[in-house]
Amino acid sequence: MRISVIGTGYVGVVHAACLANLGHEVLGVDIDEARIAALSQARAPIYEPGLDALLARTVREKRLRFSTSLAEAAQFARTHFVCVGTPQQPTGPAADMRYVDAVVDDIAPHLQPGSLIVGKSTVPVGTTARLAERLKTTTSHSEIAWNPEFLREGFAVHDTMHPERLVVGVTSPWAEARLREIYRPMVDAGVPFFSMAPSTAELVKAAANSFLATKISFINAMAEICEATGADVVTLADAVGEDARIGHQFLQPGLGFGGSCFPKDIRAFAARAEEIGVGEAVAFLHQVDEINIRQRRRTVDIARGLVGGSFAGRNVAVLGAAFKPGSDDVRDSPALDVAATIRDEGADVRVHDPEAVDNARPLFPELQYTLDVSKACEDADVLLHLTAWPEYRRISPAGLAATVRSPNILDARHGLDLAAWRSAGWTVRALGRATADDLRSAAPACTAEA
Ligand code: UDX
Repeated sequence: MRISVIGTGYVGVVHAACLANLGHEVLGVDIDEARIAALSQARAPIYEPGLDALLARTVREKRLRFSTSLAEAAQFARTHFVCVGTPQQPTGPAADMRYVDAVVDDIAPHLQPGSLIVGKSTVPVGTTARLAERLKTTTSHSEIAWNPEFLREGFAVHDTMHPERLVVGVTSPWAEARLREIYRPMVDAGVPFFSMAPSTAELVKAAANSFLATKISFINAMAEICEATGADVVTLADAVGEDARIGHQFLQPGLGFGGSCFPKDIRAFAARAEEIGVGEAVAFLHQVDEINIRQRRRTVDIARGLVGGSFAGRNVAVLGAAFKPGSDDVRDSPALDVAATIRDEGADVRVHDPEAVDNARPLFPELQYTLDVSKACEDADVLLHLTAWPEYRRISPAGLAATVRSPNILDARHGLDLAAWRSAGWTVRALGRATADDLRSAAPACTAEA
């Protein structure tokens, strides 16, 4: 089938390459000419495992090509996936729909009869219905459907090729049949295919992200209780997650969630619910957001305590800039938020990250960056572990103790063997973990930390 994919950001470029991999003929469209030029040479704008190889193969085999023209897309295909961004509005919590709206408005006059527009972006409930009205005024014989994606950064190709479920929000059997046809190899391989009303499909995405964000904030709320009572949240999460009804996933306590999805999606969902008069039903999402942001403040407070109550004139080493390990994405990164706050309070902050330094530098030029952990730690008064890259587990605490000015470490991601750091002479703190003596007795029971 011929398909266009409009918007070649994270979701779009992966989706386009994966559709081509399924055997379709795909045209990727973007207004960014430089990006389209690079993609035409099979150069990906992002790092995702497996993406470069997939692009190279599908472009070489001429199943995937790129253009900046929506009119060309409309002539080329009768199915158009819309994958442009829905960021938070600059002035409020709601989603900024201008990019999605513009794509629909701009392609509508060029559509062939029998075209299907399929939205993939995360949108406020009611968007498909609103856009269908808009489409009706410009064109007939075309429909709009919603097909949210659930991919995780770092696993984007895998999650797109092997989704846990396909969700389509459609208003006709015709639209459902076309989407089934597009995803046929996956459906034949047993991927559950859920067909529903567009509003339900839109809400599935909002609900899934809200649930996961709530789970993270729940365990971080427990971390605060643990800290106040001398208990240990890592041990608690291990034991609580063992209940199959709860599970271990998304129950990792720490500095909380960031990235391009969770923070903006829960705010947009709460704002949309308020707009339609059911704000109370998801009022807890405000708490989820607050708990999440509070972990950043708590991290700054504990770090300040470790350096004697003020950051003025202190050197602070930060391990991690990406919003999560395995990614070079720094959008709404909790680590950088903490680093920048500490810099504002008067410290010199040196940030290490194996992948994200180039993306972080333009956003926070006031921070110093290095690709060398020892350099970041030279003369540091405190070391902060803010993104759980696996390589940080391999750091030798004894070696680093000689590099810093004062051996203080705050583990805000629970990735380090704190007992080893303590035996090497470091003063150790961790979010939601007990004080030094208690931690010693808790550590042997805690399998996840080692
Ligand atoms: C997420 C959803 O998983 C995905 O389904 C959706 O489509 C987009 O948003 P992603 O943003 O790639 O994907 O990141 P994810 O791996 O889900 O992590 C989100 C954030 O939560 C990260 O900052 C991560 O560090 C944090 N997190 C995750 C925790 O703090 N604790 C956990 O237990 C899990």
